[in-house]
Amino acid sequence: MSTASDSIGVIGTGYVGLVTAAGFAELGSEVWCVDIDAEKIERLRRGEVPIYEPGLAELLARNSERLHFSTDLADALEHARLLFVAVGTPPTYSGDADLSAVHAVVGAIPASDEHALVMKSTVPCGTGASLQRVFAESGKDGLGYVSCPEFLKEGSAVKDFLHPDRVVVGDEGGWAGDAVAELYAPLKAPLVRTDVASAEMVKLASNAFLATKISFINEIANVCEETGADVVEVARGMGLDDRIGAKFLQAGIGFGGSCFPKDVDALKQLAGNSGYHFQLLTAVIEVNDLQKRRVIGKLQRHLGSLAGKRIALLGLAFKPNTDDMREASSLVLSARLQADGAVVSAYDPIAEEQARKLVSGITFAASPLQALADADAAVLVTEWSELVELDWVGVAEAMSGNLLIDGRNALDPAAVRAAGLIYEGIGRR
Ligand code: UDX
Repeated sequence: MSTASDSIGVIGTGYVGLVTAAGFAELGSEVWCVDIDAEKIERLRRGEVPIYEPGLAELLARNSERLHFSTDLADALEHARLLFVAVGTPPTYSGDADLSAVHAVVGAIPASDEHALVMKSTVPCGTGASLQRVFAESGKDGLGYVSCPEFLKEGSAVKDFLHPDRVVVGDEGGWAGDAVAELYAPLKAPLVRTDVASAEMVKLASNAFLATKISFINEIANVCEETGADVVEVARGMGLDDRIGAKFLQAGIGFGGSCFPKDVDALKQLAGNSGYHFQLLTAVIEVNDLQKRRVIGKLQRHLGSLAGKRIALLGLAFKPNTDDMREASSLVLSARLQADGAVVSAYDPIAEEQARKLVSGITFAASPLQALADADAAVLVTEWSELVELDWVGVAEAMSGNLLIDGRNALDPAAVRAAGLIYEGIGRR
């Protein structure tokens, strides 16, 4: 077997696993990727990339000789000492994270003094400690354990991997923490060496804080609508304060995706399970739920009853540059509109295939103008550049009505109005 850092294993080939694998291959490691999904592994072996992520296909292709794909964990165990775990930890009905995939990996790893698990999957604080107890109880106490949370964003995941704001490595001593730190050293990012529980909490707290920032600015936007202020101006003024920062102050129709909704809920439940009521996060979640529905109120104010009205949704993915539909605001919006009797058409440049699995009863259009044809109103749901740069005169001609709701505050109100459309943003004058 090679040294700890020139060969690694990655278990799970979803967004985090594939980007981690491609990123470390780019840095020169041989990478053994393992997934239980045989079809996915076959596709990866053929050079196909099962997800849409800018730059990922190129990175995988460029490093194909250093990337190995298998359904057999033994292949990774044979070649690599560090095994990065990047399996899904979806929410359960109780809001806790479902750790069954993590436990399956732990169960499958044999006793060894040579190997260590490096947890990339987002897990509740305390998971590392309990997994290490499981190791001890099953005679596997030679296995190392490191918490190394991932902060990459979908849509810019490759860039985020190669240029992280920080790398967090949590361990309780032993060789593996140093080996992980050494692997990341070429990226020259600030390194946070800490204990396992604190590393786990850095991840949950970071996501919860960012989600709080979004719900906060969304509430400010809602107050702006009552008071005549413009949230874009307010965010600009706030963001210049170094202590606040300009990022994540974009008001809109709420956050979605595979991380924020799940992680905020998981942290709230984690606190609740230990007897602490995390009031702030309860509000963050509620504000986000309501924010998706406020669009319906805006449509009703202009159109009256939505029964029989034709509404075009521009974008479906939870954010641009991804085909991920998990917890996308469009899911709530399309269902709510249909429940009110509206006829919904939608266009998304990339996420249509994923959306078809989750959304029914709407028409999927092949182009923005096809979605907008004869629409009474349109809602910008995802700020894809193709949609932000639409020719608004052409849009106005295609629609039968003239209402455009900018659910992401991504458009130039003057340009939209100049085309003869009514512009409504979120918290904008
Ligand atoms: C997030 C975290 O940013 C990342 O660090 C973590 O590893 C995973 O979760 P991601 O879910 O890919 O990443 O997307 P992100 O760009 O953070 O956006 C999340 C959601 O918040 C999107 O729905 C986006 O539209 C929304 N958002 C973001 C806002 O509504 N306003 C903002 O100002 C920023």
